[in-house]
Order: sequence, then structure tokens, then C-alpha cells
Amino acid sequence: MRNSIFVGAIAAGLLGLAAPATAQLNVICSVQADWCNALAAQFQRESGVKVSIIQKGSGETLAQLQAESANPRTDVWFGGTHDPHIVAAERDLTQAHASPRTTELHPWAQELSRVSKGKAHGIYAGILGIGFNIEIMAKRRIPQPSCWKDLLGPEYKGEIQIANPNSSGTAYVAIATLVQIMGEEQAFEYLKGLHRNVNQYPRSGTGPIKAAARGETMASISFMHDAVTERVAGLPVKAVAPCEGTGYEIGGLSIVKGAKNLDNAKKFVDWALSAPGQRVGIAARQFQVPSNKAVAPPPEAPSLFATKLIKYDLAKYGSNDERKRLIAKWGQEVNSLPR
Ligand code: F6P
Repeated sequence: MRNSIFVGAIAAGLLGLAAPATAQLNVICSVQADWCNALAAQFQRESGVKVSIIQKGSGETLAQLQAESANPRTDVWFGGTHDPHIVAAERDLTQAHASPRTTELHPWAQELSRVSKGKAHGIYAGILGIGFNIEIMAKRRIPQPSCWKDLLGPEYKGEIQIANPNSSGTAYVAIATLVQIMGEEQAFEYLKGLHRNVNQYPRSGTGPIKAAARGETMASISFMHDAVTERVAGLPVKAVAPCEGTGYEIGGLSIVKGAKNLDNAKKFVDWALSAPGQRVGIAARQFQVPSNKAVAPPPEAPSLFATKLIKYDLAKYGSNDERKRLIAKWGQEVNSLPR
């Protein structure tokens, strides 16, 4: 038996199969693909660790981490909205890491570490807003929206997109934001009214603003930084922060519990939270507000201070039960209605 393993090893060596194990890291990435690819390339270059990266929305990633929890194939989850990162922490799908970079982060980012008991780290912030195609609105002589309530008007019939909260963290932030602004009953009345004007609930949170940029829908509910990405690419879109106030995301960064490449995962997290790590997103033309205090936001990034922001209750809306309940209620009471 021993001999046959030995002979097999020599044969594999001769065939080039027994090469020394390379340092490896498996990342799921919930920001836009340009940023994900740049992160993988730069970390690989600097550390020599071979990075395998796949892009997936926040709700979908949470479902994948749950499905593979008995035998995790993922080491790190980079980006995506805070709520599913907090849920992952609560369900014990991720593990605490005391990063030496934590003290370099803005207080809003450290709040995510606190609420998740050290399991999720804040990597960026983004403001929820209303996106729209300025050319379509001008052509139809429709005034640009400035408030949530504007989206209920008949001129928006079949002209709005918002993602599906089952797969998209953006859409869940929108529901949680409306509930925090209006109260739950009013917010669901609003969502039912909005539903009449929605033409599609795409899987990904960035789908609606990309559709608005291409003129496939007039308006969207999106993170404002994603509208900036489209605008700097030359497309006719704009985003506003609604007059009633709005919510925001803290992009999360978590190490998976049972990660097979734990040392590399910790190295990656510490690097991603550092100033040079955060500049990768800016170089990839992404416009979230970086969480490291040493990194100035790109000038085009929507300002956290110029916006009427709610005090988002991370612990409540990031709890497993509340998130599950609100998404199920949206499915039963809103998405099931005829349009
Ligand atoms: O820029 C991409 C982005 O808006 C991130 O800021 C955000 O965390 C993520 O997409 C959310 O994606 P989804 O809604 O698909 O989960």
C-alpha cells in the first residue's frame, strides 16, 4: 500500500502534478467587477498569494456561505451591504478578527465591527438614492425627482427598477430605510404604490442604475455612487438623495468561519483595510466613501455630510429575524400584487 502511494507520488511528480502547494485565497466579492478584479490582481502581486475571486450580490453570498457552511470553499467575503454581513456573523458563518487597521477607520466603519462582534469590518459607505436618465426625463418633460413620494406619480408607471431584496443587499437597505423613515405600515403602503410603477426587480443591486443609464428604464432606486460610475463613463444619469431623508450602507468585509486559508484571509483583510488597499477601489473608478481615514474620498463621491441621513439601526435591521421577516413580508404583500 505504502509502495503504491510512493510510486504514485513519483509518477505524479514526473507528470508535474506534485508541484508544491501554492498559497491560495478564495474570495467572494460583492462590489462591481472592475474593483473585484483589481483587488485580486494587486493583492496577488504584492503578496504572492494566488487569489480566486468571484462576484456575487450580498443576499446571494449570504445564501452561498450558509449552503457551504459544513465545508467552506470561501475564505473571505469582500464588500456588499452591512445587513447580510451582520446576519452572517449572527449565524456564526464568519469569524472575528482583531485587525490592527481597525483604529485607522472612521467611527461609522468601526460601528459595524462593534455590532458584528468583530466579525465584519467596514470597508466603505454608500448613500441610497434615486437614479434617473436625464435625457428621457427631459424629452418627456417630466421634472426630475427629488423625494421618495415623487416615484408614486403616474408619470413613473412602468418606469422604475429596484432590485429584488432576496438577492440584493441594496434592495433590502431600501426597504429598511423606508421602514425607518415612514414606520412599517406606511412604508409597506409606499412599497405597494411603488410596485405599480416598477417594471422589473432585477437580481443585482446595480442592475437598475445600469438599466437607467442605458435608457431601458427611466428611474431606479440605487446607491448614488453607482450612478456616478455610470456618469463618469459618459452615460446620461444622475442620482439624488430623497428630500425625506435616506439610508446608507456600510460595505462589509468578513472572514468565513472554517476558512481553509485563514492566514492568507487575515493578511488580505488587513491589507484591504489599509490606505493602499482602499485606493484600489478609487483607481477602479468606484465612488463609495473609503473607511480608512487616511484615504480622501474621490471628489465625485456623494458626500455623507451633505445628505440628510437617517441613523440606520444596524443591530435591528441586520438581525437575522428582522431581515427574514421584512423580506418575506415584501414577497407576500408587495411582489405578489398585480401591476
Ligand atoms: O457598487 C456596487 C454596490 O452598490 C456596493 O456598493 C454594494 O455593497 C453592492 O453593490 C450591493 O450589491 P447587491 O445589491 O447586488 O447586493
